[in-house]
Amino acid sequence: MCGIVGYIGTQDCGPILLNGLRRLEYRGYDSAGIAIHNGASIQRLRAEGKLDRLQERFYSTPIKGTTGIGHTRWATHGKPTERNAHPHQVGDIVIVHNGIVENYMELRQKLISQGHTFSSDTDTETIAHLIVQARTEENSLQEAVAEAVKQVRGSYALVVMELSNPDELVATRHASPLVLGIGENEMFAASDVPAIMSHTRNVVFLEDHDIVTLSRDGVIYKNILGETVERKIKRILWDPVSAEKQGYRHFMLKEIHEQPAKIVDTLRGRISLEAGKVVFSEVKLTSEFIKNIDRIVIIACGTSYHAGLIGRYAIEELARIPVSVELGSEFRYRKPIMGSRTLAIAVSQSGETADTLASILEAKRLGAKTLAICNVMESSIPRACDATIYTHAGPEIGVASTKAFTTQLSVFYLFSLWLTQITETISFSRRLELLQELRRVPGLIETALEAESSIYEIARKYAHATSFLFLGRGIEFPAALEGALKLKEISYIHAEGYPAGELKHGPIALVDEHTPVVCLLPRDRNFEKTLSNMQEVHARGGIIIALTSKTDEHVRESANDVLLLPELEDIFMPILISVQLQLLAYAVADIKGTDIDQPRNLAKSVTVE
Ligand code: M6R
Repeated sequence: MCGIVGYIGTQDCGPILLNGLRRLEYRGYDSAGIAIHNGASIQRLRAEGKLDRLQERFYSTPIKGTTGIGHTRWATHGKPTERNAHPHQVGDIVIVHNGIVENYMELRQKLISQGHTFSSDTDTETIAHLIVQARTEENSLQEAVAEAVKQVRGSYALVVMELSNPDELVATRHASPLVLGIGENEMFAASDVPAIMSHTRNVVFLEDHDIVTLSRDGVIYKNILGETVERKIKRILWDPVSAEKQGYRHFMLKEIHEQPAKIVDTLRGRISLEAGKVVFSEVKLTSEFIKNIDRIVIIACGTSYHAGLIGRYAIEELARIPVSVELGSEFRYRKPIMGSRTLAIAVSQSGETADTLASILEAKRLGAKTLAICNVMESSIPRACDATIYTHAGPEIGVASTKAFTTQLSVFYLFSLWLTQITETISFSRRLELLQELRRVPGLIETALEAESSIYEIARKYAHATSFLFLGRGIEFPAALEGALKLKEISYIHAEGYPAGELKHGPIALVDEHTPVVCLLPRDRNFEKTLSNMQEVHARGGIIIALTSKTDEHVRESANDVLLLPELEDIFMPILISVQLQLLAYAVADIKGTDIDQPRNLAKSVTVE
């Protein structure tokens, strides 16, 4: 899960590559590097750490040329040092790679026994050696790359440059994303659209095993067997401004505040109040299939998994279809049972999460119908599924997922209500009531966001804590998990989400006067029970931060701090709660001064298993 860029054209490409890498930094920021061909030689510049380090070096000793490649790394094989930073050069061949060579040890040993010497600890360098080996008088660069990748097991997106060939770049992919930008006398390659969007809106999403040759005049599309393939140019219509901070100090804060608008975008055109219906023209599942579904299996990782857990509550409660929720990283390691009456739903912001992708492919292989809930158009997961419901969150740049999560929840609510149109498990008037309530959510998020300064006050009191607990019951339990994940990933404070009723089965031993316990107790059907659990914490001297939707003297008596939520139907409440928990995590991290948009050790898109 690194970011790669390539450029061939007529402009000096250093700044183009660096700007492209800036847009891809969310994919990894352990090291960065560029290599530029000036027609006579190739110069490389690499630096350990974030792109800023590389940029400083570049502007103090610029390298020039009109063909180049660049990389921002999330380390898998080999430490995040300059020696292991891409681009890697072996002889005349220079490459950047995103993915993992699973058989790299075997390949490396074989190459060493054949006399090759390695100058890095990366799996990527083996590919460069394989290309060098395959590049003969008879084999063009494109053919040599094809020969090399045939020996690779794993995933890759590659851009390859050659010393003797300043007028060509070769690019290929398998299970890692790669998009081409088609310009006027210039061509681009990148891991993601934002890297090239300021230069061209005409893009081609490559398919697995495509091998393309980019020159100033155009692109030659082939597959790994050397056969010509046709790929369509698509026009990107979204707005590049949405990938800017727009005055916010961090992308995460901007994205938290964007949630009302992004939920409006996600609901737009999908609710007909006149008909009391959800309209999902993109979901091509027949009524017959829905009526005969044996179960729904939701597959996802991280925050998207938490959205799936909330989705389960909504589907089971409204449509009365049994649902299980699976972690993508675990699903394939059991022997899952599913067949043609199962609906498998993959949930992913990026659409590139390797574990979710592999699991949904497995579900498909087992005969299930597949549906993606995804934010990134044309990414691998939607492409693998029978149908996709897009969340319209726009580009999410902060590594900590916020607006992607609440738009995923909105899609789950819509989908559950859509199912009821077929299962008839709720009345028309109840569906209409819920649809009207769902339409209120964006406005109520605005109200929930007004608590920002109170949240900062609370954060100031507890930012020094070393551990937090988050408790929720029923549909708020996944919200507790998500609150804990947000806090740990950006503030580096240990945090655990727990079902409120489970506390007494062990974790209550952790309660002391140093551990803030965040209790989620909206005025729902579980209020009294969660309140009792909160009182158990209070009785043991715990610090309590309560999120509730109505002032209640019992809550006030037990809690040290109370955050008030607007009142809303129980089922939609996790959205409002999550928004305040996002702000809490943000405020704590801000006070601690951590790197909020690029927390240590993480990357936005996890394309390794
Ligand atoms: O792109 P995806 O939704 O598939 O990503 C899944 C997780 O990697 C992601 O949600 C991760 O947990 C976030 N950093 C959480 O904020």
